[in-house]
Amino acid sequence: MASTLDITPVAGALGAEISGVSLAEDLTNAQFDEIHRAFLDHHVIFFRDQSGLTPDAQKAFARRFGTLNVHPYVKGMDGHPELLEIIKEPEDKLNFGGGWHSDMSFLEEPALGSILYGIEIPKFGGDTLFANQIAAYEALSNGMKDMLSRLNAVHSASREYSAKGASAQDRQSMQSEVAVDAPEYEHPVVRTHPETGRKGLYVNPAFTLRFAGMTKRESRPLLNFLFEHSRDERFTCRFRWSQDAVAFWDNRCCWHYALNDYQGQRRHMRRATVNGDRPR
Ligand code: SIN
Repeated sequence: MASTLDITPVAGALGAEISGVSLAEDLTNAQFDEIHRAFLDHHVIFFRDQSGLTPDAQKAFARRFGTLNVHPYVKGMDGHPELLEIIKEPEDKLNFGGGWHSDMSFLEEPALGSILYGIEIPKFGGDTLFANQIAAYEALSNGMKDMLSRLNAVHSASREYSAKGASAQDRQSMQSEVAVDAPEYEHPVVRTHPETGRKGLYVNPAFTLRFAGMTKRESRPLLNFLFEHSRDERFTCRFRWSQDAVAFWDNRCCWHYALNDYQGQRRHMRRATVNGDRPR
C-alpha cells in the first residue's frame, strides 16, 4: 500500500522527521506499521504540530508499543502517574536529563522508548541531542568489539538520584526522591536489539557505575573511553523543538541529552516512557 507519511532524515547517523499523521487520532494499522518501521530504522523520530495530544492521547499512542512505566523516583503528573512533566522554571539552574543517558537503564527491564511532547518551548535553546549507539559500536575495532562482547556492566540510579546527583536536586517544578538503596542490575555492554538484531553499545555516563567483576577504579579508563567515543559528533543528531512537537526515541540503541542553554526561560515537556525487556 502507498505510504501516506513523509519521512525525512535529519542527520546522517539517526533521526527522521515524519509528517502526514496526527498522533492524537487512532492510528490505522498501516500508519502504525510505518511509524514502527521508521522508529526501528532511524532510532529517533520527530513529529511537528501535534496539538491535541492530550495526556490520554499520548498514553494511547505510547501503549501501541508496550506497557507504560511509572518512574520510581520522580513524581508523575496528577491523575496520570505514567506521565512525567519535565519542567524547568526560569529560576531553576539544573535541568532534567542534562547529561548523556539512556532512560531507565538502572531497571532490570529498562525502557524501550520515550515519547516526549513539547508544551512550552524556550524562544532559544533547549534542544535535545541524540547519539546512535549502534553506529558507535560499529565504528570500534574488531579487537575492542571482541573484548566488550564478554563484559557486563552494573547500572544503578544510586549516583544520579543520590542526594548530590543532578536528577534528585530540589526543583520547585518537579518532585524527585533520593534513591536510598537503589538496586544494581547487570546488563551486557554490547546489547543485541530485540527487534532488529543489530548490536550496539549499552553503557551510559548517568547510570553505568562499573564493569561487573571489576572495581570502579579499574572500570573508569575503559568506561571513559566508551563515553567519549559514544557521543562523537558523527553518531549524533540534534532536535530543535517547536510547540506541540513530539520526539520518540529508542532507548535500546540511543543516548539523549537535554541541553541546558536557555537560562531565564521556561521549558515544559511531557514524557511517556514505554517499558522494555531485559537486555541481551
Ligand atoms: C529526558 O531525558 O527525558 C529529557 C529530554 C528533554 O527534556 O529534552
